[in-house]
Amino acid sequence: MPQGSKGTFSITTPIYYVNAAPHLGTAYSTIAADTIARYERLNGYDVALVTGLDEHGEKVADTAEEKGMSPQKWCDSMVPAFKDTWDLLDVDYTDFVRTTEPRQARTVRKFWNDLYEKGYLYKSSYEGWYCVHEETYYAESDLEKDENGTYVCPECHRPVERMAGEQNWFFKLSEFQDKLLKYYDEHPDFIRPRTRRNEVISFVKGGLKDLSISRSTFDLGIPYPFDKGHVAYVWADALLAYFTGLGYADPDRKGEFERRWPAQFHIVGKDIVRFHCVIWPAMLMAAGYPIPNAVFGHGFLLTKGEKMSKSRGNSVMPADLVKVFGVDGYRYYFMRDIQFGHDGSISMERMVQVYNSDLANTWGNLVSRVFNMTGKYFDGKVPQAPASAAENPLSSIAAKLYKTYDDCMQELDFTGAADAVMELAGATNHYVEDSAPWALAKDPAKADELASVIYNALEACRIIAMYLWPYCPNTSSDVWKRLGLSDLNKLTDIEGQSAWGLLPAGNPVQNGDALFPRLDLDKIDLHLE
Ligand code: MSP
Repeated sequence: MPQGSKGTFSITTPIYYVNAAPHLGTAYSTIAADTIARYERLNGYDVALVTGLDEHGEKVADTAEEKGMSPQKWCDSMVPAFKDTWDLLDVDYTDFVRTTEPRQARTVRKFWNDLYEKGYLYKSSYEGWYCVHEETYYAESDLEKDENGTYVCPECHRPVERMAGEQNWFFKLSEFQDKLLKYYDEHPDFIRPRTRRNEVISFVKGGLKDLSISRSTFDLGIPYPFDKGHVAYVWADALLAYFTGLGYADPDRKGEFERRWPAQFHIVGKDIVRFHCVIWPAMLMAAGYPIPNAVFGHGFLLTKGEKMSKSRGNSVMPADLVKVFGVDGYRYYFMRDIQFGHDGSISMERMVQVYNSDLANTWGNLVSRVFNMTGKYFDGKVPQAPASAAENPLSSIAAKLYKTYDDCMQELDFTGAADAVMELAGATNHYVEDSAPWALAKDPAKADELASVIYNALEACRIIAMYLWPYCPNTSSDVWKRLGLSDLNKLTDIEGQSAWGLLPAGNPVQNGDALFPRLDLDKIDLHLE
């Protein structure tokens, strides 16, 4: 099945603020998006994965000033930190959009100019409050007070700025209240998981105010074509990076946007669900574009009950963990152990436990035993198994795997999909244990039985590696190579490749280093708190 034969599949991560280097929280959204993107590639889709950086707004301007750099220099200096981290974590994105790029300015100008011409924008003066850290406007009734009676942001609890008398351009968001509610009703899977959907619906039912989409008191942003003294509000800019990354109005990528939009999934943290489920669909409705299939709001990573973030000073960098667990161990832990959609407390104890039990003891150990025995009993070649070998307890588990795994992936239930694969790995270990090939090898009359057991165990390894590839791309590719198979990167038919018995007899089988050497918690000198 050629790449993309099932059609296009577009997925996005948030466009991260450049005010801090990528940390475990931002890596979490990115790895989740990459895991689903890798799966859908294996599944035959022509996948686009868009990520990037949010380089405008007051927060970036303030940080650049603190660093004594021009905003552009500051942003440029941060780009390698993001790209290097995504490379380190094997994130295979197809576009990396920086909102300071000329192509993003083209998108923003074209999109908002269209809404201006359609009559969805008007100019008025704004009275209210603004939180620079959240880049969000708040009504006084939304705010909290600190112990000194100062108004603070209800999200991050930092002091808010009073804005009074500033002339702004407004988007008529309030006109979309009923249309949005109708849309949520007719598309129950648009906002996921369900708990987030209920929050958004009650927020919209509470009444929508028109949204200020411009700022005239500072200039770090994209000037609007219809009023050059006003730059786009950072969210009126950032959301459109998804369009830019899929080729919107790009003369060098003609026809691509039309093929790739609407996106299948926007992966976002729960803190930015409202922007994606209220403002964004209203913008799209106004402009006449289809709404993305789904916005998935994942939970926060917590240590000792607190959200991990660079500013709270409790974040270990992804590279630190990769040194201990390897890239695949890192990716597997976050995708497998924290139910996507829920908050998840992370700890070194738990990371080591999951790594040792699933990756070292179950999967790595299986490969090492079976590949070793192939070397010992069959001269390092896949044995020719008799026809009767096809009847075995593993093939029936493998036959159900695609459906279970695919159902989970459609729900972004990475835990459920990983469990389904580990069920086959666990069953294969038991099968090897129960069949005792070391005993069969001693009896020449049992040669066929031995060939069947080793063939079936190798075949299970082929299938397990394929299904683990979205989580563990390096070790899975390695296992396929060691089985004398083609590059997993190029596979586009995971369903067809799940059929039992496709591993060719005679293929060379190489026994290599342990895929996941066991870890000892006491010897790890790294703390997450
Ligand atoms: N720039 C905006 C997004 C614009 S998208 C058009 C933004 N950037 S951010 O860098 O602050 O955050 C990006 C994402 O990282 C958010 O989805 C946020 O939820 C996620 N995380 C930041 N800390 C996190 C954790 N501790 N745990 C999980 N994810 C968290 O918002």
